[in-house]
Amino acid sequence: MAITAAITAVGGYIPEFRLTNKVLETMVDTTDEWITSRTGIKERRMLKGENLGTSFMAIKAAEDVLAKRNLDPKEIELVICCTTTPDMPVASTAAYIATQIGAVNAFSFDLQSACSGFLYGLETAASYIASGRYTKVLLIGADKMSSIIDYTDRTTCVIFGDGAGAVVMEPNEEGYGLKDSILRTNGAGREFLYIEAGGSMMPASEETVKNGQHYVHQVGQQVFKFAVTNMADCSEEIMKRNNLVADDISWLVPHQANLRIISATANRMGIGEDKVMVNIQRYGNTTNGTLPLCLWDYEKQLKKGDNLVFAAFGGGFSWGSIYLTWAYDPS
Ligand code: UT7
Repeated sequence: MAITAAITAVGGYIPEFRLTNKVLETMVDTTDEWITSRTGIKERRMLKGENLGTSFMAIKAAEDVLAKRNLDPKEIELVICCTTTPDMPVASTAAYIATQIGAVNAFSFDLQSACSGFLYGLETAASYIASGRYTKVLLIGADKMSSIIDYTDRTTCVIFGDGAGAVVMEPNEEGYGLKDSILRTNGAGREFLYIEAGGSMMPASEETVKNGQHYVHQVGQQVFKFAVTNMADCSEEIMKRNNLVADDISWLVPHQANLRIISATANRMGIGEDKVMVNIQRYGNTTNGTLPLCLWDYEKQLKKGDNLVFAAFGGGFSWGSIYLTWAYDPS
């Protein structure tokens, strides 16, 4: 049987500090009722502390997953950190994480594809495993979104939060693991979801800082429309081409951007609420953290042989679906 890449352990880390809707009501012109009904979010976490970047949370998640799998970090051959908020623009965050956790035999790199980063990371890690050359890949999804959010902008500050999740991927010869993927991009989307300055097109200057051009900007309604259509389309397509009906699917693992987008995707797939992983009410949108943090929260309910469909949509635009069979029972 061909080698497939299976998830063999899940870890996570969420910072202590909770920013509730009630507190946001005192910061911007919003209400708990608006945020809850439009997004499903009740609170989100924020990483506090001087000079702590995304790697702080990623390292905690990585240590958690390695301990759960009982792995010596020296056995890890590749570390991928999916993030949109690297510690620094140039030095690889994955390299720092690998060194800090003792993965001294690994090579490592960051993967940037906004909210679809972890989904693309799953495909990337699985391809390294399926090649037969790698047997232990550490895949992390981590973001300190609070570092790029304007807390005077009610259209974005109510949505995002900080967090990190991590999985180990290993070869499987019984057919469990990643089975199929549909991944897409459309560069026209960068008009609707972006950070304008700080890149090569518009380097940082006094002016860009003064104008708030280093914060996330999104045209919410446009992004919403694209997200609903594309997440639902590719999830339906992946079901069709693998001859899956709703009853065959144990869990939908959706990106946590908006509860309404999640429900629309589940409805199109014909899947009931009880089979949809949702933790947006507690963490908000943690960007690259959402998918692994769903696995982290629901791990105890996952059984060997469960069919999972992952779906995400994000900046770029970038989106897709992945069909994966779970490889282990809860311990
Ligand atoms: O993860 C990456 C991909 N991102 C997404 O998938 C996000 C997609 N977009 C969304 O989830 C939704 O568009 C939002 C949650 C961002 C916004 O919800 P919406 O239902 O699309 O609201 P809207 O932008 O159409 O705004 C409706 C009204 C506006 O007021 P007027 O013009 O009707 O008077 C906004 O100014 O709500 C206002 N508004 C708010 N009111 C209270 C916008 N933000 C807020 C707020 N509190 N925080």
